[in-house]
Amino acid sequence: MSGTSLAGMSPTRSRVENDYYATPFEATEAILSREELHGSILEPAAGEGHISKVLREHYPNSQIISTDLVQRDDRFGCGIVGGVDFLTENYPEKFNNVITNPPFSLAKEFAEKALEVSTGKVILFAKIQFLEGRQRKDFFATHPPKAVYVFSKRVNPLRNGLEVDENGKPWSSTMCFAWFVWEHGYTGEPCIRWI
Ligand SMILES: C[S@@+](CC[C@H](N)C(=O)[O-])C[C@H]1O[C@@H](n2cnc3c(N)ncnc32)[C@H](O)[C@@H]1O
Repeated sequence: MSGTSLAGMSPTRSRVENDYYATPFEATEAILSREELHGSILEPAAGEGHISKVLREHYPNSQIISTDLVQRDDRFGCGIVGGVDFLTENYPEKFNNVITNPPFSLAKEFAEKALEVSTGKVILFAKIQFLEGRQRKDFFATHPPKAVYVFSKRVNPLRNGLEVDENGKPWSSTMCFAWFVWEHGYTGEPCIRWI
């Protein structure tokens, strides 16, 4: 079996440019029904707005800011601003919460920046492998999450934001995903929960 197959990716498809894999609505529903957010919310890698749409449905009265490095269709009318590199952007004020599904290769950098620019919760969707690795071990030691919510059922991110593949079939992934949650001020041990 090839490395890509072992990792749960199709061996015949390469990664999408800028790692654009949209988050299925149900995955965001699952975390928002378990973790409450108070105050402003930044989605800093919003893609076409799959997470932002669900945020708006849950928090119609909250300030929700959606940005992305790339300008794509704002499919759900979330007011997404393109051309914003989250990792280098200077924010004059902090947000209460940051939630996103970052490019996996930059997940640690996104977590660090999100913690820097927030006062409440940081919630990231990532492969369970985000837990491993020497650099991430050091990061987790200094920034322990409050909780990791592991999906017991496979989640199928939408490649390039498309609902189905080139044969009209729904995406199917063998990867295990989780939501990683940090909360400023939380001092306990990280807790693992299952969705
Ligand atoms: C895995 S996709 C997730 C999109 C969206 N959050 C969702 O869940 O549907 C990652 C997104 O990160 C964006 N991205 C990559 N590097 C970025 C950066 N440095 N700053 C902001 N967005 C970035 C990509 O353009 C892409 O839309």
